[in-house]
Amino acid sequence: MYLRQMETDDIGILLDMAHAEGWSSDVFEFELFHKLDPGGCFSAIADKKVVGGVMTFTYPNSGWIGNLVVDKKYRLKGFGKALLRRGLQHLSSLPTIFLCASPMAVGLYSEFGFRKVSNINRWEHRGMTLDMPGSNENLEHVLAVDNNCWREDRSLMLSRMLTNRSYVFNEGAWLGFGLVGDHWTIGPWEAYNKDSALDLLKRAIVDSKDQRILVDVPAQNTRAWDILTVMDFEVVGKTVLMCRGLLPDIAFGNIYGLASMGSKG
Ligand SMILES: CC(C)(COP(=O)(O)OP(=O)(O)OC[C@H]1O[C@@H](n2cnc3c(N)ncnc32)[C@H](O)[C@@H]1OP(=O)(O)O)[C@@H](O)C(=O)NCCC(=O)NCCS
Repeated sequence: MYLRQMETDDIGILLDMAHAEGWSSDVFEFELFHKLDPGGCFSAIADKKVVGGVMTFTYPNSGWIGNLVVDKKYRLKGFGKALLRRGLQHLSSLPTIFLCASPMAVGLYSEFGFRKVSNINRWEHRGMTLDMPGSNENLEHVLAVDNNCWREDRSLMLSRMLTNRSYVFNEGAWLGFGLVGDHWTIGPWEAYNKDSALDLLKRAIVDSKDQRILVDVPAQNTRAWDILTVMDFEVVGKTVLMCRGLLPDIAFGNIYGLASMGSKG
């Protein structure tokens, strides 16, 4: 077995592994990671084929480990740890590293010095979709709200990501959304107060049979819990946000939805 830098052709293979796990991921997201930092994405090779991968994502003051996956047939042979170690090495100059752990991987990450920051609930709504009520954009405003919530300059990632998503905003909030495979996802969704957050969800959501919406929400945001319950969303899963190093003063109470399903905050 050996590790090498991820190649564009590996992405489809790794995406199949991600989908076998039921992840909400698409080729746009994997390619975005890869394009932004090809030197920070690694594949594990065994029997002359790709059997696993990991992606890293770098902001100015923090990094993310995302999409760590190993082919089911090749698990428990050390590939996962080797990939994680390589990803961490790539991010080693940053003071903070985050990841969202599936429950099965929490022990593995704890061994590498990660500690729990927050549970992340995955909420689902069936029978609704999201629709763009208008075409107004204000990138400067939404990036400023995001910066206030995460205490991080995420503008490079978000401006690229928003080329593939729609968003609505008001004075105190914004809500991004997009189609990922066969379902819709909400995120980022950030607000200074509950009314602003609810206003945007009500504006964007419309009835539609056979459609479903997912959003990943920090569990300590009780206002998000109230809104999603009232709007008939249900919790269908849980991950754990973990951190290694310094934990910035993130305003979790203002974060109603992560930017993506688990891979970059
Ligand atoms: C998590 C995952 C990447 C681990 O890959 P792997 O190649 O099996 O990992 P390793 O062989 O390097 O094992 C790493 C450690 O995790 C432990 N581990 C792996 N799978 C486990 C499981 N299902 N339950 C409990 N512990 C597990 C191993 O026992 C090992 O610990 P040890 O060295 O102390 O024995 C792999 O199981 C996977 O792809 N899972 C599905 C996707 C996923 O959950 N990814 C993590 C997203 S946050």
